[in-house]
Amino acid sequence: MFEDWYLEDLLDKNVKTMWPLTDKYLLQLIKKVFDRIGISEDLKDFISIQQIMEKYNYVEKADRMLRWDLERLKFDEYVESKEENGVVFYKYTSKEMPTDYEEIYNWCNNEDPRSIHAFKLLALVADNYEDILEGKTSGVNVIYSPENIHIINEYYQHGLFYTVNNVLGGKVLNYEVDKRNNPKILELGGGLGSGTKQFLGQRKDAGKDLKSFVYNFTDVTNSMLRKTKKPIEEITGDLSNFEFNKHDFNKSLEELGLEEEQYDIIWAVNAIHVATNLKFTLQQLYRLLKPQGTLLIVETVRPEYCPWVQHEFIINSLDDYGNVELNDEWRPVHGFMRWTNWVKAVEAGGFDIVDTVPNMAEVEKRYNNCYATVIRGQKK
Ligand SMILES: C[S@@+](CC[C@H](N)C(=O)[O-])C[C@H]1O[C@@H](n2cnc3c(N)ncnc32)[C@H](O)[C@@H]1O
Repeated sequence: MFEDWYLEDLLDKNVKTMWPLTDKYLLQLIKKVFDRIGISEDLKDFISIQQIMEKYNYVEKADRMLRWDLERLKFDEYVESKEENGVVFYKYTSKEMPTDYEEIYNWCNNEDPRSIHAFKLLALVADNYEDILEGKTSGVNVIYSPENIHIINEYYQHGLFYTVNNVLGGKVLNYEVDKRNNPKILELGGGLGSGTKQFLGQRKDAGKDLKSFVYNFTDVTNSMLRKTKKPIEEITGDLSNFEFNKHDFNKSLEELGLEEEQYDIIWAVNAIHVATNLKFTLQQLYRLLKPQGTLLIVETVRPEYCPWVQHEFIINSLDDYGNVELNDEWRPVHGFMRWTNWVKAVEAGGFDIVDTVPNMAEVEKRYNNCYATVIRGQKK
């Protein structure tokens, strides 16, 4: 029932047009960074990531960042690779990189200014790239510094592409809430509350009750809890059915001092992909749900169109992004996954019925850049 809405309204004309343009912009940013550093000279002949790391004296995390950049360029055939004795060597192809990034920026800004938040965030990371590679600063320091933090805030709250996750999550959460009588909801990794605000805003716009549920807003970071109270109160008028608590989803219920079977609905927007041991986290969430409870994991997923999601250029620079335990079946890569792997992960976590909203098998037959979904796990 969500499929037509997802393909026509959620992923609307602007999202469909501007996502590939943002990809083009990003490719040119990466090339500019490589030109600036000198890596473009190195790529005139085959060179391995290890050789680049040694030449420029980069920190360990640079390996992951450079690999992503080179594979992304390779995907669009600007780079080719060969493997010798298990080592991959990269080299530029003869394909010319366009230099129309300013035109792309201006055109998108004109058509839909919400698209610009992604451009700004990508450019911020690119501008500081060599310092991050050299370990002189970290992605967190760059992105969350007082002078830059508005860029990521605007990206999460108003960005054309990111908002898709919140709108989708809000809609599916409302659907689940409306099926129940005064449900108890837990939000994990709520951050600055952009998902919460969508959920509440949608209820308000539809004239629905803002008191017909009990809501526990959580995050691992105390500062997020403090900052989010006020904007939520501005929507609801008061916080009588809200709690704000610290919750680390890497911990067991025993470590957190929580009882089993507490919640009717647990949800999270773009947070669970950093769980250190995904299966363990999902097992804890299963325990925390009441019978007939539902887990909604709203996530950016790797689309068919291109497995290299542009947002990774940003989060690859964050230290803990790659710090997860891998598993061939349900956690084959760190960060974002294919929706099929998410389904396997939620099944591995013990959930009895697992599906996606919308039905991803269905929507992917009709459009190849379905980059957001809700993985729904139900407890019998
Ligand atoms: C990408 S943000 C998403 C925030 C929010 N859900 C949104 O969509 O705007 C990820 C959030 O997960 C939180 N997080 C990271 N690790 C966590 C953990 N182990 N337990 C709970 N929250 C965590 C971060 O503090 C951050 O607020």
